[in-house]
Amino acid sequence: MRTETGQVIRLGDYRPSDYLIDKTDLVFRLDPTRTRVTAKLQMRRRAGVAPGTPLTLDGDGLTFVGARIDGADAGDNAVSATADALVVNAPPASETFTLEIETVVDPTANTQLMGLYRTGGNYCTQCEAEGFRRITYFLDRPDVLSVYAVRIEADRKDVPLLLSNGNPVENGDLGDGRHYAVWHDPHPKPSYLFALFAGNLGVVEDEFTTASGRLVTLKIYVEHGKEPRAAYAMDALKRSMRWDEERFGLEYDLDIFQIVAVSDFNMGAMENKGLNIFNDKYVLADPRTATDQDYASIEAIIAHEYFHNWTGNRITCRDWFQLCLKEGLTVYRDQEFSADMRSRPVKRIGDVRLLRAHQFPEDSGPLAHPVRPRTYREINNFYTATVYEKGAEIVRMLRTLLGAKGFAAGMDLYFQRHDGEAATIEQFLACFAEAAQTDLTQFALWYDQPGTPNLAITTRYDRTARTFAVTVNQSLKPPVAGTPNAPMVIPIAFALAGKNGSTLDHDAVSGARTMQHEGEDGVLVITEPKHEIVFTGIAEEPVLSVLRGFSAPVTRVPQAPTRDRFFLARHDSDPFSRWEALNSLAMEDLIKATRAVSAGDPAAASDALVDIFSAVAGDGTFDNAYRALCLTLPAETDIAREIGRDIDPDAINKARRGVTEHLAKACERVFARIYHELQPRNAYDPGAEGAGRRALRNVALTMLCHAARSTDLAEQALAEADNMTDRAHALMVLTHLAPESEAAAQALEAFRTAFRAEPIVLDKWFTIQATVPRAETVETVQALTKAPGFSWDNPNRLRSLIGAFATGNPVAFNRADGKGYELLCAAIRRIDAKNPQVAARLMTAMRAWRNLEPGRRQRAKTAIESLRRGDRVSRDLADIIDRTLA
Ligand code: ARG
Ligand code: ZN
Repeated sequence: MRTETGQVIRLGDYRPSDYLIDKTDLVFRLDPTRTRVTAKLQMRRRAGVAPGTPLTLDGDGLTFVGARIDGADAGDNAVSATADALVVNAPPASETFTLEIETVVDPTANTQLMGLYRTGGNYCTQCEAEGFRRITYFLDRPDVLSVYAVRIEADRKDVPLLLSNGNPVENGDLGDGRHYAVWHDPHPKPSYLFALFAGNLGVVEDEFTTASGRLVTLKIYVEHGKEPRAAYAMDALKRSMRWDEERFGLEYDLDIFQIVAVSDFNMGAMENKGLNIFNDKYVLADPRTATDQDYASIEAIIAHEYFHNWTGNRITCRDWFQLCLKEGLTVYRDQEFSADMRSRPVKRIGDVRLLRAHQFPEDSGPLAHPVRPRTYREINNFYTATVYEKGAEIVRMLRTLLGAKGFAAGMDLYFQRHDGEAATIEQFLACFAEAAQTDLTQFALWYDQPGTPNLAITTRYDRTARTFAVTVNQSLKPPVAGTPNAPMVIPIAFALAGKNGSTLDHDAVSGARTMQHEGEDGVLVITEPKHEIVFTGIAEEPVLSVLRGFSAPVTRVPQAPTRDRFFLARHDSDPFSRWEALNSLAMEDLIKATRAVSAGDPAAASDALVDIFSAVAGDGTFDNAYRALCLTLPAETDIAREIGRDIDPDAINKARRGVTEHLAKACERVFARIYHELQPRNAYDPGAEGAGRRALRNVALTMLCHAARSTDLAEQALAEADNMTDRAHALMVLTHLAPESEAAAQALEAFRTAFRAEPIVLDKWFTIQATVPRAETVETVQALTKAPGFSWDNPNRLRSLIGAFATGNPVAFNRADGKGYELLCAAIRRIDAKNPQVAARLMTAMRAWRNLEPGRRQRAKTAIESLRRGDRVSRDLADIIDRTLA
C-alpha cells in the first residue's frame, strides 16, 4: 500500500514529456502469482531536448527483472530501478532507441483492482488513471500516445480467451498446454486505455455496419450461462453506434468492438480502446433480475463508454487536470442519447435530481473543487460528480448559448482539429469560439471557479407602460476560502407566461443580451453581478418562467413568489419547470414540517399542496413516468441539503413521513385508481413506456401503504410481482414500513433464497435492509457483514451494504450516539488495507459533517479524526480525510 502523504501535483507545473514512446510491444506470460511482462518500447527524444537527458519511467509496486537498451543488457550504471520508478541515467544520444524491460507482477495479490488483477479466476486490467505503471515501467501519462502490439500467453484449458485492444492478428499453440494470441491496435493511445482480459467466459456475438459500410464484429463476454442476460446490452450498444453516427457524425474505427463483464470492478466501466471492461451489474439484465433503473443505467453506461471512443480515445486529455474534457463531454453525450431513447423531460429531471443530490453538496462542502482542478494529491479522488456532472452541464450551456448549429460547428471543428491528440479545455473552447465566432473568455470561468452560483430574481409589471422589469443578481459564495468568484456567464432560458401558460410576445428587451434559436426558448445571457432587464410591449401581467430545462447549474434563493410557483406548477409549458415549481412547493412544506416536528408539533402538508398534488395525480394527460416524478417527494437528503445547517435527520424523517401520510390520505382514491388501472397487461418490456407504468404504479403502491398505515398491499404486490422492478419495490416498502413484521422477515428470506447464487441481485437485498430508516439498522448492517454472500473484497458488495447505509439512510447513519459513524469508519479502515480507492470513495459520505446539529457534528468529527490517527492510511484515504477536516 502506498502510505506516503503524497506530493501535490499542480496544473501550472505541466511540461511535455522529454521522451515519447512511438511503439509499445508487450508480451504477457500469464501466471496467477508470477506473471512476466516484457515491454519493448520504441523511444524517441522530443525535439529540442538535450541528448542524454535522463529518462524516468513511472512504476508502482513493480518487481524489476532486467532491462536492455538497443538490444544490449543495461548494467546497473545505465539503469536504476525501484518498485516505483525506473531511471535510465544516460540514454543513448540518438533521437530514437529501444528500451526493453522485464517485470514480474502478482495478479492474485492485487486487491486494489488497479493494474493486472484476478477476478473470478480470470485475468483483468484497469489502468485509468495510473494503473498501467503497476504492470510495467512506462511514461504513464495521457499525453504520451503509443501504438500497441500485445502478445498474451497462457494455459489453454483455464484461460481459453486471450483479449486485448484493437484487432486480432494471430493465435496459436505453444505446446505444453499453453497457447498465445497477438493483438494490434493501430490507433495511438495513452497507457490508461490499455486493456487485457484473459480467462474463461461465454460470449454473445453480433455485428454492425457503419454508415460508410465498415462491418464491425460485436462481442460481449459474460459468465457462462448468463449469455441471454447480455441481449439488452448488445441492443443498447448497436443503438449507441447508430446514434453517434446520426447525431455527431462519428463512426466506429476498428473491425471489432468487445465488452467484457467482470464482477470485481472499482467503478462502473472503462472505455479501453476496442475492449471496454464493465462491472457486470451494468451489462447483465433480464426481467427476473434487473429493475427498470438497472436497464436505464445499462443503456446509459454502454453508450457512455462507447461514446468515449471519440471523446476520450481519439481525442484524449493532455493531463489529468483536463479529465472533464472527456468525462463532462461524454456524460453530456450519453444524457442526450438517453433523452432520445426515452422521455426527454423525464431524463432531464432525473439528471437534475442527481446533480443536486451529489454535485451541489460536493460543490458547497470541504471537497469542493473546480471542474478543472488546479491541484491534486490523488487523481483517483477526482472522478467526481463535479468533473462528470457539472462538466456535462457546462457543455449543455455551450449548446444553449450557441444553438444547435453553432454547437455542431464547434464539435465538428474539435474532431477535425484535434483527432489523434491529447487536448486541453482551452483547445476545446477555442473550437467553439472560432466556429461560432464568439468570445468564450468569461464562459471559461465555469471550469475554474468552484461553487454553485446563486441567482436572486425579482419582477415588476407596469400596466400603463406595458413593461415587465426583471432584476437578476448573481453571486457566488466561494466554497473554499480564497477561491475566485468573478461573475459568470449564466444562460437563463425563459418565457413570459400569460394566462394558461401560453408564452407572451414582447417588443424589445434592454439590460441583457438575449437570444432566440430556432424552435427553442429565448435565453437571457447574464454576465454581470446585476442586470436590470426590461421587456416592453407586454399586454398583460406575465408570470416569469426561468431556468427552463435547468439551463444553468445554479441555485435560486429566494425562490419565485409562492403564488407564481403554484401558477407554474399548473401551467408552465416547459415540463421541467413545471416539475421544478411543484418540487419546490413540496420542499417548502417539508421544511416547515421539519420545523414543526422540532418544536414538538405534528407534520402536515398545506391545503394548497394537497390540491395541486391531487390535481397532478389525477391528470391523465401527463405521461406516467413524468407523473411518477412529480408525485415523488424530495428525499430526506434533499431536505437536509436545503436546510443546510444544524441538521437533525430524525426530525426530517418524521416530517417527511408525516407529509407523505397526509398527502397519501388526501389522495387515496386517486392512487387506488392509478394502482388498479396500471396493472400489468402485457409481458414485461424494459422500454420507457412500460417502465413509466411501473414507476407510477409503484408510487401509488407506496402512497396507499402510507395512507392505510398497512403493508398488506405491498405483500400482495410482492406475491404477484413477475419482474424485479415490482418485486424489489414491494419488498422495499414492506421492509421499510414494517421492519419488525413476520411478513418482512419471510419476504427477505424468500428473496435471499431465490437469489443466493446471483451476487448482483443479492445486492438489492443488502441495500433494502441497509436503508431501513430506524436506529436499529446500525446493528443490522453490522450483522449483515457476516451474512453469507457478503464479501469485504468486492466493491459491489461494499457499496450495496456499507455505501447504501452511509449515503441512503440518514436516520441510522446519523444515529445520535455516533454508532453509525463508527461503523463506517471501522469498515473503511478495514477496506483501506486492501482497496484504497473504494475506501476513499466511501469516506466522502462524511463530507457534510459540519452541517449537522452540534452533538452529531462532534461525534462525526471524532470518528473521522480517530480514523486518521490510527494505523497509517492510504494516500487516497488520507487525501479525502484531510480535505474533509480542513
Ligand atoms: N473513464 C471511466 C468512465 O468514466 C471511469 C474510470 C474511473 N477511474 C478511476 N480511477 N476512478 O467511463
Ligand atoms: Zn467516462
